[in-house]
Amino acid sequence: MALITTGVLLQVLAFLVIFIGATCSYLTHVAYDYWNSKGIVQSKPMTPFGSLWPVFSSQKSIDRGMYYNEEYDPMSAHLFLIGGTKWRNLRIKFTPTFTSGKMKQMFSTVKDTADNLGKCLAEEVQKNGLIEIRDLVARFSTDVIASVAFGIECNSLQNPMAEFRTWGRKVLEPRPVKNTLFALCPAVLKFFNATMTDKGASDFFIKAFKDTVEYRTANNVVRKDFLDLIMQLMNKGYINPDESKGDVFASESREKITILEGAAQAFVFWIAGFETSSTTVTHCTYEMALNQEIQDKLANEINTVLERFGGLTYESINEMPYLHKVVSETLRKYPSVPLLNRECNREVELLDTGFVVPTGTPIIVPVLGIHFDPDIYPDPDKFDPERFSEENIAKRHKYAYLPFGEGPRNCIGMRFGLLQTKIGLITLFSKYRFKPGPDTKVPLPVDKGNILHGPLGGVTFKVEERY
Ligand code: HEM
Repeated sequence: MALITTGVLLQVLAFLVIFIGATCSYLTHVAYDYWNSKGIVQSKPMTPFGSLWPVFSSQKSIDRGMYYNEEYDPMSAHLFLIGGTKWRNLRIKFTPTFTSGKMKQMFSTVKDTADNLGKCLAEEVQKNGLIEIRDLVARFSTDVIASVAFGIECNSLQNPMAEFRTWGRKVLEPRPVKNTLFALCPAVLKFFNATMTDKGASDFFIKAFKDTVEYRTANNVVRKDFLDLIMQLMNKGYINPDESKGDVFASESREKITILEGAAQAFVFWIAGFETSSTTVTHCTYEMALNQEIQDKLANEINTVLERFGGLTYESINEMPYLHKVVSETLRKYPSVPLLNRECNREVELLDTGFVVPTGTPIIVPVLGIHFDPDIYPDPDKFDPERFSEENIAKRHKYAYLPFGEGPRNCIGMRFGLLQTKIGLITLFSKYRFKPGPDTKVPLPVDKGNILHGPLGGVTFKVEERY
């Protein structure tokens, strides 16, 4: 009996050795050599992880996940993750949400929150002249989006432990292995009905959304914000165009969305909106602290325009071209989404290679790599807003700058993201001068365990009143 068991064990062992050897050989010489064998330069793979060892080990982060599960994880069925006809229909329905007319209507909410940011900043500066900017501006954008997407005044600027902010931290906690699996094997995860969103966060946001919808419906409350537009899609299936502002009907479909579909879109506006805008403000402040001349020029433009308009108005922001250049250069050096992913939907021949990319091939666009290509942006580490003068923009390829992506799946919230980023910066630089803090590092260490491109930990500056 013992002899048989040993014999069987040896055979199983031999089988395993041959199986693992054959699998490794297939991975190394076939699967992971795919692009190389077609004459396309690829990064050096490492069996069994391919090119993903740095991602599994948290040395690098991956781009957005491609998995969602509407039934078991309703908050994952949002514009950013869904695909196909469902995405197309929702995208068309939501397009009128982000017109300039609608942005103008939401301006006062952002401005009121920026006034709170100004008050908090003044209190903090009084204490010891040092400000940890990252959390402060994350609380600012949390308050903005909680208000416009969920209709909730969560006031995390005054109360840093407000529930919305706490769940925001939770949702964006680094989880490199889970994100990699979500991106690479959606079919397997679907089979096991895995969930992408933290259960506590999902319950919290669904309840917050439902409560406000019920309250507004019962009390006939109408506010000019994203939530109101989402409710129009739930109640009528389309958004009223604001014809006086040039909006048009984007959708022929009158199909209503469900309350869970509505909650998932409020959730994605919140996730996609608060961290991207707040890290952009943080990165911009960092560059301003290191480049005092640029900071002075920016503060000068802001204050001249504010004086001309008698304060901050929606129109005044369009009269600040230097601010636009500074924000553009910030997003070149620090694109919040460092990689874009697509699936090839028709055969395309790659220039100069003769290689035809087959339909269905997943493609990753290395935004950060393009933004630091010295052939496109000479001396790429230098912070130079003049790269975004009209003349210099005209010299570059249209797709050499991709902070908001490109094509039909580009960032739907770009206008709003820029609006709240700029209002945040105007609030900071109109009154204060930022200088490097005692621990400011050059270059800024990056948090490699996160989906979004952001700094590692907090970023503290020395802050002085300007006037
Ligand atoms: C500075 C701020 C922001 C940056 C840098 C940014 C960047 C991006 C990028 C790079 C993408 C992927 C585009 C692509 O694959 O081509 C994206 C998608 C998206 N963004 Fe933003 N975003 C910002 C603010 C916002 C805001 C404020 C909202 C909503 C209120 C928003 C909502 C979305 C949504 C829903 C998508 C998915 C669109 C789709 O797949 O149809 N974003 N964003």
